[in-house]
Amino acid sequence: MSKILEAKAFIEEKLTEKPTIGLVLGSGLGVLADEIEEATVISYNEIPHFTKSTVVGHKGQLVIGKLKGKQVVAMQGRFHYYEGHDLEAVVFPIRVMKAIGVETIIVTNAAGGVNESYKPGDLMLISDHLNLTYRNPLIGGNDESLGARFPDMSEAYSKRLRGLSKEVAATLGIQLQEGVYAGLLGPSYETPAEIRMLRILGGDSVGMSTVPEVIVARHMNIEVLGISCISNMAAGILDQPLSHDEVMETTEKVKAEFLSLVKGVIEKM
Ligand code: HPA
Repeated sequence: MSKILEAKAFIEEKLTEKPTIGLVLGSGLGVLADEIEEATVISYNEIPHFTKSTVVGHKGQLVIGKLKGKQVVAMQGRFHYYEGHDLEAVVFPIRVMKAIGVETIIVTNAAGGVNESYKPGDLMLISDHLNLTYRNPLIGGNDESLGARFPDMSEAYSKRLRGLSKEVAATLGIQLQEGVYAGLLGPSYETPAEIRMLRILGGDSVGMSTVPEVIVARHMNIEVLGISCISNMAAGILDQPLSHDEVMETTEKVKAEFLSLVKGVIEKM
């Protein structure tokens, strides 16, 4: 607990207003943070107990300020388990967000399309997830001041916020998919056989993030909205190899839609 409080104290010293909405920005989606006004930017390297991010396309800083009139804190770049961090480090920023006032988070990621009716560039509201990392960030002693020992996960992704997002998307003329995100460890992409397995298990998209952060957020009763940007079709669907370059290219293309959707949702929150 004291680690969280130290990080909180460090951040709060730089702020005049509490952020109530947290944004976790995935690969190629960090540009949203550039639109935050009157921004206080804090590099992860400066914050006590934060870890450094190592993936290309992830910046590694908190951007705190106003977006659509709301006070937000954005993670421009997140930590992944595959980078070699322990899960506690991956979810630490979410716990710090809660400590500084966040009640709602919007978690975003680039993901592979497992559902064959999807196409690269689609945006998918996450309705639920499959935790296929076989890890849980809540393993260990439970801090009762954060949440329950056995937290409920029956509505991990808020129905209310999904409804709101659909309304916003309709007014903006943005088409939205809605489906189940399968969270794996990575960093290798899946094999075609694994993708067929995920489809049988009920997965619609696949990625290497989000699940630990959402578990920890729900533990603390933060309301969660999850959005996947389908950056590529998952392995074996198309007759072509997957690459991080393709992921970054596609997210670059849908950036405008993604930005207007998220901003529209924040405005209505
Ligand atoms: N698989 C896993 N993670 C991903 C993918 C994928 O196809 N695309 C973007 N992140």
